[in-house]
Amino acid sequence: MTTLTEADALDGLRDALGLLKDREQVAERLLASSAKHSFDPDKELDWEAPFEEGKWFWPPELVSLYDTPLWKRMSEEQRILLSQHEAAALASLGIWFEIILMQLLVRHIYDKSATSAHVRYALTEIEDECRHSKMFARLISQGGTPWYPVSRAHQHLGRLFKTISTTPGSFTATLLGEEVLDWMQRLTFPDERVQPLIRGVTRIHVVEEARHVRYAREELRRQMVTAPRWSQEFTRVTSGEFARVFSVAFINPEVYTNVGLDKKEAMAQVKESAHRREVMQTGAKRLTDFLDDIGVLRGVGRRLWKSSGLLA
Ligand SMILES: [Fe+2]
Ligand SMILES: [Fe+2]
Repeated sequence: MTTLTEADALDGLRDALGLLKDREQVAERLLASSAKHSFDPDKELDWEAPFEEGKWFWPPELVSLYDTPLWKRMSEEQRILLSQHEAAALASLGIWFEIILMQLLVRHIYDKSATSAHVRYALTEIEDECRHSKMFARLISQGGTPWYPVSRAHQHLGRLFKTISTTPGSFTATLLGEEVLDWMQRLTFPDERVQPLIRGVTRIHVVEEARHVRYAREELRRQMVTAPRWSQEFTRVTSGEFARVFSVAFINPEVYTNVGLDKKEAMAQVKESAHRREVMQTGAKRLTDFLDDIGVLRGVGRRLWKSSGLLA
């Protein structure tokens, strides 16, 4: 039995050589980590504590309007209110992603041996996502903010996608849903300007999501080598299309109306904002570097990624 450090060193070597890791070994390690670091948000977090006056619900630099002319005209109170509604909208989006992901995982394991570590880990990840979705829902209602569903068109697109997507397509979409939000959450949980409850929620999510990202990356890396050529090509194009859907769904325009702003004006300013573009591209960088490395960002797919605004 190798120690964790030896195993990590071997993984590093495999990465450097572009070799695939053993599926069962990856899953065994993720199962061991899940056994050690999993949280029950209902018990772990203080849901009774009232929100603290003057604290943000999302780091201001990550709020969509930050640094725009409209932002400069807003009072501090209105900016904080917008951060609260955007946090609720992102939590709603997170639940949408997680529910799609749960179905993708169920489909992924449907015809695989239930005794394999790979399937047992997928079931563990579904448990994680169930807790996360309940945690996000509780967070949204805690602040009296509304539930922010995605547009009807995206709702239908998601329904179709989670029913028919191919395996590499599923894992590409998973990473897109997880990595950009994860990048934002990594900036949120250590930020002392942010409400303690939001910091607690994002901390739990970051710890547990790290395993999900690992599982999806390893599987996608394998799929981009082993899947039939048509399926690899299909993944390139569909992933570019997901990126376009994702970048639109990432902002729910209703948040502006709900904090007393003009929806059209706000959307136009976000579109023009160089700061926002940089935030989104930086947030997606770790993912786009990885996708580039395993050959997803080529041809038409790459052009679609660029037009999504997530790839420079
Ligand atoms: Fe999650
Ligand atoms: Fe996840």
